[in-house]
Amino acid sequence: MSAYIINGLELAKEKRAQLAKEVEQLKSEGIQPTLAVVLVGDHPASQSYVKAKQKACEEIGIRSKLLTFPSDITESFLLEQIQALNADDSIHGILVQLPLPKQIDELKVIETIAPQKDVDGFHPLNIGRMMTGQKTFLPCTPYGILFMIQSLNVEIAGKHVVVVGRSNIVGKPVGQLFLREHATVTYCHSRTKNLREITRQADILIVAVGKPNLIRAEDVKKGAIVIDVGVNRLENGKLCGDVHFEEVKEVASYLTPVPKGVGPMTITMLLHNTIQAAREQKG
Ligand code: GUN
Repeated sequence: MSAYIINGLELAKEKRAQLAKEVEQLKSEGIQPTLAVVLVGDHPASQSYVKAKQKACEEIGIRSKLLTFPSDITESFLLEQIQALNADDSIHGILVQLPLPKQIDELKVIETIAPQKDVDGFHPLNIGRMMTGQKTFLPCTPYGILFMIQSLNVEIAGKHVVVVGRSNIVGKPVGQLFLREHATVTYCHSRTKNLREITRQADILIVAVGKPNLIRAEDVKKGAIVIDVGVNRLENGKLCGDVHFEEVKEVASYLTPVPKGVGPMTITMLLHNTIQAAREQKG
């Protein structure tokens, strides 16, 4: 058996065409959806992520405003910039690209973003809303993963979802999102004992740890859905995921590639959240 390879690029394209229509509708009502993107320092990966996010905005008619600051700014300066964006009615969404330089407390920054403009879905209030099943901004990567799996028309309720990785951006929230969909969720991480015994029980295996080729064929149950969130750059310059693609595609029923898997869906959900923010702020 060879897995069906989920084409994240194609799925993102379809969803973005629909979002472009929603932007048109808002514009006809006199609203120009606008995202402020804050980039601190010159981290090359962050620069390329920010560029990709801005390009995606532009393609569907969302205005993006880039604010770049040197890596030695103070925390209080950055907080003031965010407060100014909170107060600016022409800005609907605020995204502060992470990671931030070490002198700046990331949680403090996230907590300063007005919850109604938190299109990343990282604010503790929005995370709490997600966990209690209320309407909110869902974090983009977890939301993109859920969207991908829903597009396969497979039942999620009752399935065993195993999440490997417990970051605040992906691991923790993706488990919560699948719990909301009535899955049975198990979290694994660097201190988990007998990782393979647990991953082999997964109907849906989501891997977000940042270790190239961590998950091999023997770690996966036959017919499982495998979602690879890892983006690792190898010494030869090539990108690879946390899942050994060639091996696992012979065992899984569905598998996401790296690149062109989860990545394009993450950005698409950011666009979705920005439109939602603009719609909710128009009153
Ligand atoms: N750094 C890595 N992923 C993300 C993300 O989804 N949002 C932000 N703001 N920073 C990130």
